[in-house]
Amino acid sequence: MSERCPVIAIDGPSGSGKGTVARGLARALGFHLLDSGALYRLVGLAGAKAGLAPGSPRHAEVAAAMAIRFGVGSDAQEQVFLDDEEVSGQIRTEDVGNLASQVASDPKVRAALTERQRGFALPPGLVADGRDMGTVLFPKAPLKIFLTASASARAQRRYNQLKDKGVDVNLVGLSLDIAERDARDATRAVAPLVAAADAISIDSTTLTADEVITRVLQLARTRFITR
Ligand code: C5P
Repeated sequence: MSERCPVIAIDGPSGSGKGTVARGLARALGFHLLDSGALYRLVGLAGAKAGLAPGSPRHAEVAAAMAIRFGVGSDAQEQVFLDDEEVSGQIRTEDVGNLASQVASDPKVRAALTERQRGFALPPGLVADGRDMGTVLFPKAPLKIFLTASASARAQRRYNQLKDKGVDVNLVGLSLDIAERDARDATRAVAPLVAAADAISIDSTTLTADEVITRVLQLARTRFITR
């Protein structure tokens, strides 16, 4: 990473609003966007399609070999392709989220995805959303944000997102799933979900996505990340 390619790292637990905030920041700054969770979701999905059991060590091979592509559809919605099949909807289900969290605890899967992720850091800059963007992938990022929100606000947001997509979900079951996934992400041995020592924490419980974006853009300006 160079000064020509500043990185804004946004880490935090599920439902903290990272995705919406990262997309809004990338749009405002004209930066590239890395949705690293999508990569872990793709490994989980590709493994399931290949018939692998959730803990199979063969997921690292899948992570290294899978052909993936990101695009934007005519309706301005993001599109994700796995081996030329559009899987944008499939990777967003809670089942695939859980598979992603399981494969993400395998250090070989993480290693297989490292260079792919760093490859997104291209001029004029990158907004990187995930769990270990500030700690592992981009430790020299000039701006690191750790985005949190109360557990109930996070579950409610995820519930609303899924309902909007027409998915039939149950708030209590969803809260339990999110708690299980966050506990696994925070306690795994490799790249656990923790704030980098130099990250700025923002609690989004009572803030809108636009308010968080405005705050991060102000911080970016103080670190000379402008366009
Ligand atoms: O952010 P998202 O919910 O799409 O991430 C799915 C899962 O992928 C997370 O629960 C986490 O286990 C894993 N992940 C990760 N490191 C990242 C991004 C996501 O381990 N940088």
